[in-house]
Amino acid sequence: DVPGLVDRFGRVAHDLRVSITSACSLRCTYCMPAEGLPVIPRDELLTAEEIGRLVGIAVRDLGVLEVRFTGGEPLTRGDLVEIVRRSAEAAPGIPLSLTTNGIGLDKRAEALRDAGITRVNVSLDTLDREHFTRLTRRDRLPAVLAGIAGAHRAGIGPIKVNAVLMRETLADAPALLAWAIEHGCRLRFIEQMPLDADEAWRRDNMVDARELLAVLGTRFSLDPVGREDPAAPAEEWLVDGGPVTVGIIASVTRPFCGACDRTRLTAEGSVRSCLFGDDETDLRGLLRSGSGDDEIADLWRAAMWGKKAGHGIDDVDFVRPVRTMGGIGG
Ligand code: GTP
Ligand code: 5AD
Ligand code: SF4
Repeated sequence: DVPGLVDRFGRVAHDLRVSITSACSLRCTYCMPAEGLPVIPRDELLTAEEIGRLVGIAVRDLGVLEVRFTGGEPLTRGDLVEIVRRSAEAAPGIPLSLTTNGIGLDKRAEALRDAGITRVNVSLDTLDREHFTRLTRRDRLPAVLAGIAGAHRAGIGPIKVNAVLMRETLADAPALLAWAIEHGCRLRFIEQMPLDADEAWRRDNMVDARELLAVLGTRFSLDPVGREDPAAPAEEWLVDGGPVTVGIIASVTRPFCGACDRTRLTAEGSVRSCLFGDDETDLRGLLRSGSGDDEIADLWRAAMWGKKAGHGIDDVDFVRPVRTMGGIGG
């Protein structure tokens, strides 16, 4: 047993999310500014070798049980396969997954699988090409669908599809669910959080889980079955008696911060203890000044001890984090 990543509220982080870039091939309005995020200078990004080393420390010394690569869009990094390979070597047997927009996944799915990726979550909000183009500011729906098909062909599975709830695409939700069932994907709808660059999010006008359930209810019968495990963000609903379920991640109206099991690394190599916590703790300095694994592990533990109780979106004094979603990786 190793002394793990515990915070002062008694939560233990077993789930590591590693952001590896701020670049993205889409510009989803809820996540990125139209012009994209500033490019992170190459010498400020962690290298594949450094990421592998930190993944090894997280698993060996800090009790992390699962690692996910995010972005921006992780597929925009040319050395993604190398990052995965080094992480798999550093942490044999640990599930390695990817959260991606799917663009280019068809071309790299087999290489990623061989390097050690066991699961992918693909973001896809609508199957209506015009709605997709408006929401993502890019006409790339066919590329996303090709990416999902490619991941299926490579035998990476199960594939989860993430759909952020937006008013412009709410009416498309039933068709997306029917498509997911037909294509063997596990669909999850996500309440939008105030992490958009344009600050267009409004608490009193966001699409919430209740509204989604009403819309899905026009075409499917749904029965709540709870969470897959206590720290899972999604609550599952049995569709038309099962066996298929649909998930709802109600981060805003039914927050799950009390059971949070996440720790994050930014693309620049800092620990971010909470999605909404701007206090980041730099590990890259230690990595590059020849520090030992113990020293790095101790600083990571200290960073997590200060994790906030929750996102506090409904608090009167709530302040948005400086980074938008694209710079955190979800
Ligand atoms: P699985 O292990 O496949 O269930 O992954 P996941 O759902 O943890 O990760 P994914 O990257 O697919 O994220 C899905 C949604 O959950 C995204 O909208 C994330 O922003 C949201 N999410 C992930 N982690 C957190 C978190 O720690 N807090 C909150 N509030 N939302 C989160
Ligand atoms: N609120 C909720 N989820 C978001 N995502 C991106 N921006 C937001 C937001 N503002 C989702 C993406 C992706 C995951 C990492 O987070 O669609 O699936
Ligand atoms: Fe955990 Fe922070 Fe997300 Fe809440 S908002 S679930 S505390 S990372």
